[in-house]
Amino acid sequence: MKNKLEEILKSGTSEIEVLQDLKTLDEVRVKYLGKAGALTQILRGMKDVPAEERREVGSLANSVRETLEKALSEKWAELENAALVAEMEKEKIDITEPSRGVKRGALHPLTRFNNKFMEICVEMGFTVIQGPEIETDYYNFEALNVPKNHPARDMQDSFYITDNILMRTQTSNMQIRAMEKMKPPFKVVCPGRVNRNDSDSSHSPIFNQFEALVIDENIGLKDLMMMIKEILKRLFGEDVKMRVRPSYFPFTEPSIEIDATCQRCQGKGCSLCKGTGFSEVFGAGVVNPKVLEMSGIDSVKYSGFAFGPGIDRSVMVTNKIPNIKYLFRNDLRFLKQMR
Ligand code: DAH
Repeated sequence: MKNKLEEILKSGTSEIEVLQDLKTLDEVRVKYLGKAGALTQILRGMKDVPAEERREVGSLANSVRETLEKALSEKWAELENAALVAEMEKEKIDITEPSRGVKRGALHPLTRFNNKFMEICVEMGFTVIQGPEIETDYYNFEALNVPKNHPARDMQDSFYITDNILMRTQTSNMQIRAMEKMKPPFKVVCPGRVNRNDSDSSHSPIFNQFEALVIDENIGLKDLMMMIKEILKRLFGEDVKMRVRPSYFPFTEPSIEIDATCQRCQGKGCSLCKGTGFSEVFGAGVVNPKVLEMSGIDSVKYSGFAFGPGIDRSVMVTNKIPNIKYLFRNDLRFLKQMR
C-alpha cells in the first residue's frame, strides 16, 4: 500500500509538472483525485489494511492528496496567467497605425435653408412660433376667409381626417392662432410641415413652408415689399432682382406673388425659369381686414401683412435637385452630395 502511494505521488507530480494546458490539467485531476481516481481507490481500500498500519498509511495517503492538490492549483494559476499574457500580446494596440478617419454628419439641406431664413427673420425682430400640423377646418380655411365650398379650396387638395379635421395645407393657420393669442404690434414667423394631395417630380404630399405675419399701426403694401426685398438680398445676395405680380388669396387684399432672380441660371434664362431669368418664390399680401376682425383684431387701428414661402422648391433650385422626393428619402448617397 505504501509503495503504491509513493508510486502515485511520483507519477502524479511528474505528470502535473509537464502540463501545458487547462484541459489536460483537468484530465490529470480526474485521473488521480476523481471519484474513480487512483488515490480515491486506495482510500477506499483502507478497510483492508491491517489495523496497526492503518494510521500510517492513512496519513501518508492524505499527504499525497494534499501535495497533488497543491501542485494542481499552482499549475492552474501558472497556466491561467500564461493564457492572459498571450491574450494581451495578441490585443496589443498599435498607436502608430494611421486613423481610419472620422465620418462627420451634416445638416440636411432643408434644415440649412430653414435655419438661414429663420436667422434673417429673427434679426429683423420676428418671434418664431410653432403650431399644430393636424388642424381644424376653421384655422386652416374658414378663419382665413375661405368658407366651405369656396373655389379657393381647389388650390389646396387636402387630406381630411374627419369632416372637420385635416392635415394642414398651409402654415397660414398660424396667422389666426397668433392673432388670437398675441397683442399687437407683433411680428411672428412660423416654420412648419404642410400636406397636400399632390405628387410629381416637383410636388410632394409633404412639404415645408414658413408663415410670416406682421401686425402694426399704419403698415401696408410698401412696407411688405421693402421687407421682402431685404430678405431676398440677405438670402440670395445684394444683386438679387425682385418682380411683383398681382395675385389672389382670400386672406390678403391686395395679394401679390413675388418672383426673384432664378437661382439656377442667376437670371441668364434657363429651362427652369422658361428663359425669363425669374422664378416664383412666394405669395404675400396685406391681411384682409375681414380676417383681422374674425381673429379679434381692431381693423381700424391695426393693419398687417403676411407672406408664405415654400422652402423645398428653393432648395431644389439652388442645389439643382431634379426630384423633390430626394429631399425626403434620407439616402446618404444623395445627402453626401449636398454637404
Ligand atoms: N398659404 C399660401 C399657400 O400655401 C401662401 C401665402 C400667400 C401665404 C399669401 C401668405 C400670404 O401669408 O399672404 O399657397
